[in-house]
Amino acid sequence: MSLLLLLLLGLLTLILCVLRGRKRRAGEPPLIKGWIPFIGKALEFGHDAHTFLEEHKKKFGDIFTVRIAGKYMTFIMDPLLYPNVIKHGRQLDFHEFANKVSPGTFGYPPVISVKFPGMQEQIKRSFQLLQGDNLSTLTESMMGNLMLVFRQDHLCDGPREEGGWRSGSMYEFCNSVMFEATFLTMYGRPQAASRHGGMGVLREDFVRFDNMFPLLIAQMPIWLLGQTKAIREKLINYFLPHRMSCWSDTSQFIRMRSELLDQYDTLRDVDKAAHHFAILWASVGNTVPASFWVMYYLVSHPDALQVVRQELHDALRLAGVEFSQDRDVTLGKDQLEKLVYLESAINESLRLSSASMNIRVVQEDFSLRLDGECSVAVRKGDVIALYPQSMHMDPEIYKEPQSFRLDRFIQDGTMKTDFYKDGQKLKYYLMPFGSGSSMCPGRYFAVNEIKQFLCLLLLYFDLQLDEDQSRVSLDNSRAGLGILLPATDVRFRYRLQV
Ligand code: HEM
Ligand SMILES: *[C@@H]1O[C@H](CO)[C@@H](O)[C@H](O)[C@H]1NC(C)=O
Ligand SMILES: *[C@@H]1O[C@H](CO)[C@@H](O)[C@H](O)[C@H]1NC(C)=O
Repeated sequence: MSLLLLLLLGLLTLILCVLRGRKRRAGEPPLIKGWIPFIGKALEFGHDAHTFLEEHKKKFGDIFTVRIAGKYMTFIMDPLLYPNVIKHGRQLDFHEFANKVSPGTFGYPPVISVKFPGMQEQIKRSFQLLQGDNLSTLTESMMGNLMLVFRQDHLCDGPREEGGWRSGSMYEFCNSVMFEATFLTMYGRPQAASRHGGMGVLREDFVRFDNMFPLLIAQMPIWLLGQTKAIREKLINYFLPHRMSCWSDTSQFIRMRSELLDQYDTLRDVDKAAHHFAILWASVGNTVPASFWVMYYLVSHPDALQVVRQELHDALRLAGVEFSQDRDVTLGKDQLEKLVYLESAINESLRLSSASMNIRVVQEDFSLRLDGECSVAVRKGDVIALYPQSMHMDPEIYKEPQSFRLDRFIQDGTMKTDFYKDGQKLKYYLMPFGSGSSMCPGRYFAVNEIKQFLCLLLLYFDLQLDEDQSRVSLDNSRAGLGILLPATDVRFRYRLQV
């Protein structure tokens, strides 16, 4: 997050609230306030959350409270203690936080409110349509849409360089394919066409909104963010009911959500549209960068890429599928589940690129039991935070944590699940999708669609990075909010395999 804006944010909080200090009470974790009253440690945290937390851990131990932009946040750094936080569903609530932050970000009225009885529960129920048996239809639809976009945009004739190579920017490539295919799978297509017009503009607007996302989540008022309000309105208007009703092949998930929103007379059309827009963000905001990282790590590790490609060909042969370039490929849920090397590549890429913070708001003063005899006192209204990136980058758990290893999550040809800290087996060792009651309901779909995307890439194309590019680094401006974007795009070449 930009320092200047964080500063502004801190000052705002300062103006809006009364300066109130607080003293550490018996049983509470070390309290670190920072040298600027109120803005506290926000500046340092926003600049590089991972380093900030590691340094505090060295000084203050595994549990400490920091005042960040006016909020008291208690970080639990030891992953062996994670289960104790995650299981406290009642006293440590996620949805209070989401209900406070999402409306200002996406522009709909708070869901948990007397105006909308039962809405929260119904929304929760709709998530079942992303999982279990219901996932098969969605996955099938995604396959068709990916194939469509690949065929029309990348498998067709077009300008080529010598040897049949085409050049591209990798992030741009992933974004254009995954954004549109996911959009079509979720919301459907226009009745008279297989693709929506204006997808490029929608995507550009989305990127501009997404750049402001960290500030909106930090509850910066949208009117301070220049064009953002107008861009958000434009994005929301895309989903107005009279437009959506003209689309066909809409997923059951989105149809169910439209129906449930229609039950509330107190919701205006723009409010309903804003809910649909929020789902667009949830379904592509992390999936696109995640797809990028998997593609990037595989293309920059040709040996790993070859192993995954071989696994894919073996799986197709086993399923009796003869691959040929002019026939559409179908890879269903069951076939995708067998691709363990590809899954390990995905998990390893998520480990390296995810920086989501798990947040719980303390519902009452209580003593949070940690391990054995040890517990800490926490106060109502405070925030308990887990920062799994610290675990993902812990050299004791993951040897050489900075490097990509294809078989990181494989042991004897199947999935590896034993990872250790201080000689103890970890219950949680990979948490790109959050935890407990707030865990991402789209995670199975996300992994499947990323697999499908990579399968198509590996089946159809030879892929190479352009030479003379330095290693891509992470852009930390979204630290705490999910999968980080690359700091720069990467040039690559692709050509049809012969
Ligand atoms: C690699 C891709 C993805 C990642 C890394 C990811 C990650 C996350 C995370 C970290 C959360 C918050 C959990 C927490 O704070 O504890 C979340 C929530 C959510 N995700 Fe995902 N997600 C991904 C893809 C998707 C997709 C494809 C969909 C939908 C089709 C989706 C739908 C949602 C929804 C609806 C929520 C809010 C859940 C709630 O309010 O309880 N996500 N996701
Ligand atoms: C599929 O979704 C429906 C509707 O939400 C739900 O009743 C059913 O249990 C879901 N099936 C699975 C296997 O999750
Ligand atoms: C990858 O991670 C997911 C959780 O994010 C897990 O369910 C799955 O089993 C993992 N697969 C492998 C091969 O580690």
